[in-house]
Amino acid sequence: MAVLYVILSWTVMFLLFLAFIAFLSFCLYMKHIHNKYDHIPGPPRDSFLFGHSPSFLRALKNDEVIFDTFLEWAENYGPVCRLNLLHYVVILVTCPEGTKEILMSPKYPKDYSYKRLSQLFGLRFLGNGLVTTQDHELWYKQRRIMDPLFSSLYLRGLMDTFNERAEKLMTKLVEVADNQTEASMLRLVNFVTLDVIAKVAFGMDLDMLKNKSVFPDAIQKCLKGMVFNIRDIFFQYKPKNRPFVKEVREACRLLRTTGAQWIHDRKTAMQNGEDVSKDILTQIIKSAGKEESMTSEDEELMLDNFVTFFIAGQETTTNQVAFCIMELTRHPDILEKLKKEVDDVIGMKRDISYDDLGKLVYLSQVLKETLRIYPTAPATTRDVPNDIVIDGIHIPKGVACFFSSYVTGRMDKFFKDPLKFDPDRFHPDAPKPYYCYYPFSLGPRSCLGQTFAQMEAKLVMAKLLQRFDFTLSPGQTFDIVDNGTLRPKSGVVCSVRHRNDKK
Ligand code: HEM
Repeated sequence: MAVLYVILSWTVMFLLFLAFIAFLSFCLYMKHIHNKYDHIPGPPRDSFLFGHSPSFLRALKNDEVIFDTFLEWAENYGPVCRLNLLHYVVILVTCPEGTKEILMSPKYPKDYSYKRLSQLFGLRFLGNGLVTTQDHELWYKQRRIMDPLFSSLYLRGLMDTFNERAEKLMTKLVEVADNQTEASMLRLVNFVTLDVIAKVAFGMDLDMLKNKSVFPDAIQKCLKGMVFNIRDIFFQYKPKNRPFVKEVREACRLLRTTGAQWIHDRKTAMQNGEDVSKDILTQIIKSAGKEESMTSEDEELMLDNFVTFFIAGQETTTNQVAFCIMELTRHPDILEKLKKEVDDVIGMKRDISYDDLGKLVYLSQVLKETLRIYPTAPATTRDVPNDIVIDGIHIPKGVACFFSSYVTGRMDKFFKDPLKFDPDRFHPDAPKPYYCYYPFSLGPRSCLGQTFAQMEAKLVMAKLLQRFDFTLSPGQTFDIVDNGTLRPKSGVVCSVRHRNDKK
C-alpha cells in the first residue's frame, strides 16, 4: 500500500512538473511573440497571456459592437494596429494601400478564423463552402461553377420572382397600413428575402408571409452561435452555456438536414429525367462531382454550400433594407427626393423591370450610404504567409490582417462628418472612395451575390416607397446588434400608412 502511495505521489508530482514546464514554455513562446511584433503600434494588452481577448469578451458580454472598439483603436494607434489574442497576432489595417495590396491579391488566403466558421460547436456548419474555404483550388472550382448564375443576363431572368415575392410583402403591408398597427420591417423584409433565395436558389416555395417557418430562428441561432464560437474559444466548455450550445447545434442540424432533403429530391428529379431549373441547387450538385464517384466529403461539401447560400443569400440584404428604412424615418428630405425619383421612374407600374432599376440612381446612392454606416457583413481577414511592409511598418510573417468597412466607413479622414447620413457622397460625379469602402469586400473573394443583393434591395425599397409611408414606433432605437452580421437592434418597428393617406 505504502509503495502504491509513493508511486502515486511521484506520478502526481511528475505530471505537475510537466504541466509547469508546458506553462513555462508557453509563457516563453508568448514573450517571443511579443518581442517579434511589439514594434507594431497597438493598444495596451489586457493581460500577458490573453492579450486583448478580455476586451473582446467584455464587448460580447455587454452586447456592444466590437467594431466601435476597433474604430477607436484605429483612430488612436494608426492605420496598422496590432491586436493580440493569446498567441495569435492580428493586424487591423485601415490604410487604403495596404487594403488594396492584400485584398486584391490571391496570394493572401482567408485565415484561420474561417476554419472556426466551418464548424459550429463541433458540428460541421459552413464547412468548405464558398465563403469559408481556405483552399484556393477548391474555392476557384466552386466559384467558376457558380459565376454564370450571377451574370447580369441570368439575373435579368430573376426579375419576375423578385417582383412576385416583393408583391406578397406589399399585400401584407396593405393589411397593416392603418397607421396604428406596428410592424417589424426587419422581420417582414426577411420573409421576402428568404422566400426569394429559397425560390431562386433551391426552387422551393416557402411563402413565409403566410406560413410559419422554423428557418429565420434557426439562422439567427446559428449566427449568434458563430459569434460566440469565434470570439470565445472556451464558450462551449462552460457549463452555463450548455443549453444555448444545444439549441445552436439543433439549429445547425436542421439547416443541414433540410439541405440533404432538398438535394436528395432534386437529384431524384434529375435522375428521373425531369426538367429541373438550372439554379444554385443544380450547380451545387454539379460542383460536387459525378454521382458514381461521389465521396462522403463531396456530399458534405454540397451541404456546406447549401447552408452558405441559404444564409449569405438573405441575411445581409434584409439587414441593409431594414437599416435603410430606419435611416429614412429620420431624414424626411432624403425620403421626399427618393419618392420623387421612384414616381418619375416607376409611376404606378406594378412590375419593376431590370432597366427601371438602372434608372433609380438616387436610390442606389441611398443604399450605398446605408452600407457605409451599416456594412452588414462588417469585416474580413487574410493570412499573411510572408513578411510584408504596410504603411512603412515591417510586419513579420505569421499574422492575419483584418479589414473592416465598418471602421474605415466611419473614419473622419475618409468620410467627412462620418455619422451624417449623406447619400450625395455616392453621387455619380463625386470622387470614388479609394479602398476605404468595401461592404462587399474586394478582390477575388469579394461577394458573389453583390448585384443580386442590390437588385433585390432596390426592388423592395422601390415598391415600398411607391406605396407606403412609415413612422418609427416610440421606443425604437438606432442601435446595432453585432450578430456576426450587423442588424438593427429594435427590429425597425414602424406604423405604416398608404402614401395618399394623410391620417
Ligand atoms: C447586402 C447584401 C450583401 C452583403 C453586404 C454581402 C457582403 C459580403 C462580403 C463582405 C463577403 C466577403 C466575406 C468574407 O470575406 O468573409 C461576401 C461573400 C459572399 N457573398 Fe455576399 N453579401 C451580400 C449578399 C449576398 C447574396 C444575396 C448572396 C447570394 C445570393 C451572397 C453570396 C456570397 C458568397 C457566395 C460569398 C463568398 C464569395 C467567395 O468567397 O467567392 N451575398 N458577401
